[in-house]
Amino acid sequence: MNGRDLVRSVKSVGSRQGLRTVRSAWRRSRADARALPSRGPERARVPGPVVGAEPGPGGGVVRFARSELSVRVAVGGAVFWGWDGAEPLPSYALPGPAPDADPRAVLEPDKDGGWQVVSERLTVAVSRHGAVELRTPGGVVLRREQPPRWWEPVAGGSARWVQRSEVPADARFFGLGGRAAGPRLRDGVYGLWNTDPGGRFGPGDDPLYLTMPVQLVVSDAGTHLAFHDNSWAGRVTLREGEEGAGSGHDRPGMSEVRMDGGPLRCWVVAGTPARVLQGWTALTGAPALPPSWALGPQHARWGFGSGREVRRIVSGYRERGLPLSVLHLDVDHYDAHRVFTVDRERFPDLPGLAEALRGDGVRLVSIVDPAVPAAPGNAVFDAGTAVGASGAFVRDARGGIVRGEVWPGECVYPDFTDPRVREWWGGLYAERLAQGFSGVWHDMNEPVSFAAFGDTTLPRSARHSLEGRGGDHREAHNVYGLAMARAGYEGLCRLRPDERPFLFSRSGWAGMQRYGGTWSGDVSTGWPGLRASLALVLGLGLCGVPYSGPDVGGFDGSPSPEMYLRWFQLGAYLPLFRTHAAIDAGRREPWEFGPRVLDAAREVLLERERLRPYWVTLAQLARLTGAPYVRPLWWGAPGDRALRECEDAFLLGDALLVAPVLGPGVAERAVRLPAGRWYDTVSGAVHEGPGQVVVEAPLSRVPVLARAGSVIPVRGADGGLELEVWAPAEGRSGGGWVVRDTGDGWEPAVVERYTTRLVGGRVVVERDGEEGLVDCPVRVRGL
Ligand code: NOJ
Repeated sequence: MNGRDLVRSVKSVGSRQGLRTVRSAWRRSRADARALPSRGPERARVPGPVVGAEPGPGGGVVRFARSELSVRVAVGGAVFWGWDGAEPLPSYALPGPAPDADPRAVLEPDKDGGWQVVSERLTVAVSRHGAVELRTPGGVVLRREQPPRWWEPVAGGSARWVQRSEVPADARFFGLGGRAAGPRLRDGVYGLWNTDPGGRFGPGDDPLYLTMPVQLVVSDAGTHLAFHDNSWAGRVTLREGEEGAGSGHDRPGMSEVRMDGGPLRCWVVAGTPARVLQGWTALTGAPALPPSWALGPQHARWGFGSGREVRRIVSGYRERGLPLSVLHLDVDHYDAHRVFTVDRERFPDLPGLAEALRGDGVRLVSIVDPAVPAAPGNAVFDAGTAVGASGAFVRDARGGIVRGEVWPGECVYPDFTDPRVREWWGGLYAERLAQGFSGVWHDMNEPVSFAAFGDTTLPRSARHSLEGRGGDHREAHNVYGLAMARAGYEGLCRLRPDERPFLFSRSGWAGMQRYGGTWSGDVSTGWPGLRASLALVLGLGLCGVPYSGPDVGGFDGSPSPEMYLRWFQLGAYLPLFRTHAAIDAGRREPWEFGPRVLDAAREVLLERERLRPYWVTLAQLARLTGAPYVRPLWWGAPGDRALRECEDAFLLGDALLVAPVLGPGVAERAVRLPAGRWYDTVSGAVHEGPGQVVVEAPLSRVPVLARAGSVIPVRGADGGLELEVWAPAEGRSGGGWVVRDTGDGWEPAVVERYTTRLVGGRVVVERDGEEGLVDCPVRVRGL
């Protein structure tokens, strides 16, 4: 059962929880009506004409009749601008102090009474009415933000605003967090309000659990990322442009960001896609490095029911030769769903179970929901009420603790925007570690409060600390999951300082990669859900969150064997591989779908395991450079328009191109190739890109192509590191990176670079800087 079903079922049978969801919704709307009276008449404002300017570090301030704009180029090339005195800080996206200003960038007069700041990678031109234009060093326009418009309540209060921008006619939009309709974001309105869709979702559902005002825009003129640093509720309307094709004018692409309040400030990073992600993660924090075991196969079931069943499932994997690295325990292992209290009847010795499984190479990961039962006598509730002077839980405008309805019944919600609360909450994870868990899975942290009508979250008027500044849920909602991730991550670092935490979270916001990854949540079972699950991973990667994956098989139904297998094959090439079954959705173990599926599932999992050193390398490179493991086909060639249109295949690192099957009855499929030679990794067939080819896609396998010249670290037959080298084309060279697994601690990575050449029909592999010596076996393929 999920939220939507719960609400539906309780409506019909009138259960106690159902009545409470009605009461909860009613309480929420009453609290909001009381504390957030209607805005009343509003006054519109635009900046007006320019009246002066003042240079400052990395740029300066341009003054207008009714506003001012501060522009700053940071060291590293990111550009910031903020209206009405907005500064880079405070910000939930930035992990520490704002980056230093680049002293070489100065504000100077431009034509027509405007001003400009010229920097190495971008020129920012401010018109005399407050339009902000970003140009490449060659003078080509990447983005033009029109003068913003604010609406201020006459009686006072936060202004809402709109910022319209133009992008080149050929531009394509990506990002905005996890969007089921992506990866390319077509014309439409995208919500900025983290939302539990209330059960299964498909491509038409928006917004979902994890939104962020981060757009990545790709056009012939270049690639840029624009981040409107504001956590309030908002909407982004996108309209792709149209080119005149010689007979008419171009119609530029359009983005319109509307926010219900909060600062109007923006960061832009421009360059190649790789440079953009590097700049973006330099600004918002390096992605957390998952331990190597988290790159192995994972399995979850809501409803394992008992420790005995967990053992049975693990044995099932072993007996059938299926690798398994992690098993996830869902809320049902808690006593009456109360987090941090195990149901000892069904799981009498969780630490013992965890240890035994670990001996078999299987780790346990625990679900953690933020909601705490509102019951005096519940240890977490009691401890939370004693945190600081006012307790740990979110309060309403009158000072009462806000209550909502979740699995355990009536619940309260820790205010993770309060540093003391984060510290307290992080300390609670000691219980999880003592139970033998190796990592955590944050769920329901949008946060969810089941409601019979309206929003399924906390009242917008609920009060939050917001790091001591004070504010309400309108500002805190979208960063709730992010702040919870911080609490968990920092808690685990304190509790187990020698090991890197493993954490992934359903909700989050810009910068969440610092603490861990995410997953699809309750993607609906069906081919559209399968497709959406790829869109989510690609889109999130372009927002700086490289570690994610779907729930293979979807959430709510029984996939056909074919659909399950195709999903499984796709998931095996995504960073987080997890099969999952909801409590009433039937079994999802691979042997439940017949021998044919089992054999093919085994094959693709063994291949994933063989590629483990490559996964480790990709994880390390993501940490070092921000480059997602899973990249759109245009990653290395953003100017290739045909690749920009291609959404049904992806690159895994630089070396592999994966062409998953996303629909039924497929035996072969078309693949668009980036430039260069590509090998079918199974048949060895050679394909030359750019262009489109047709490859075999029998049910037994997913088509994977390797780039000629690439070096892929793999696990050899003896378990040691081996280099798989795909022969470069005649007269061409190639290469690749290897970062060896340094364990689960914090040891710094050593990046090894290899180059490959074809000399006299032989492939020569050399390691940079080590006199060319390669200290592990090399297997050449494709000759
Ligand atoms: C919702 C999550 O998305 C799902 O994965 C989980 O099984 C249920 N909550 C129950 O905890």
